[in-house]
Amino acid sequence: MIKKILVASDGSKHAFRAAEKALEMTKQLGEGVSVTLCHIVSKPISRGELIHSKFDVKSLLENEAHQALIRIELLFRNENVPFNLHVAMGEAAEEIIQKANMENYDLVIVGSRGLNKLKELVIGSVSREVAHGAWCPVMIVK
Ligand SMILES: Nc1ncnc2c1ncn2[C@@H]1O[C@H](COP(=O)(O)OP(=O)(O)OP(=O)(O)O)[C@@H](O)[C@H]1O
Ligand SMILES: [Mg+2]
Repeated sequence: MIKKILVASDGSKHAFRAAEKALEMTKQLGEGVSVTLCHIVSKPISRGELIHSKFDVKSLLENEAHQALIRIELLFRNENVPFNLHVAMGEAAEEIIQKANMENYDLVIVGSRGLNKLKELVIGSVSREVAHGAWCPVMIVK
């Protein structure tokens, strides 16, 4: 039974499609399903950014996550589907896997590719690692 869905977004169009799929499934599954939208800030914060933000790391993270998730948040809000947000800092696949496994998610949904423009690979490293490391089923949306 699917009760907890984790959707990961790096702000790419692929991740948006993953979120559309998550929304569709959530509506089909009905009440009792909870969706968490997550973004992992992977790039290091620069000195300049730190000083500019007056060392407010929390706001820096929130701003970055907001950019990666805003379109998806609007999509869910427009359909009146509630969601949780999760933002963390670190290596994307590692953080997504840890969250999914430690909090007993039933399904993780990711895009097949992300922001990297290189097109040779069918799936990106984050989707591949999550598929390997998560204990629950992983849906990789093309
Ligand atoms: N920082 C992140 N936070 C949350 N989800 C992410 C993040 N990075 C990637 N993802 C998820 O993984 C999916 C695939 O992205 P991935 O990074 O694997 O591909 P890529 O950027 O094309 O290639 P690579 O990063 O391996 O060079 C995205 O659509 C998104 O669902
Ligand atoms: Mg990537």
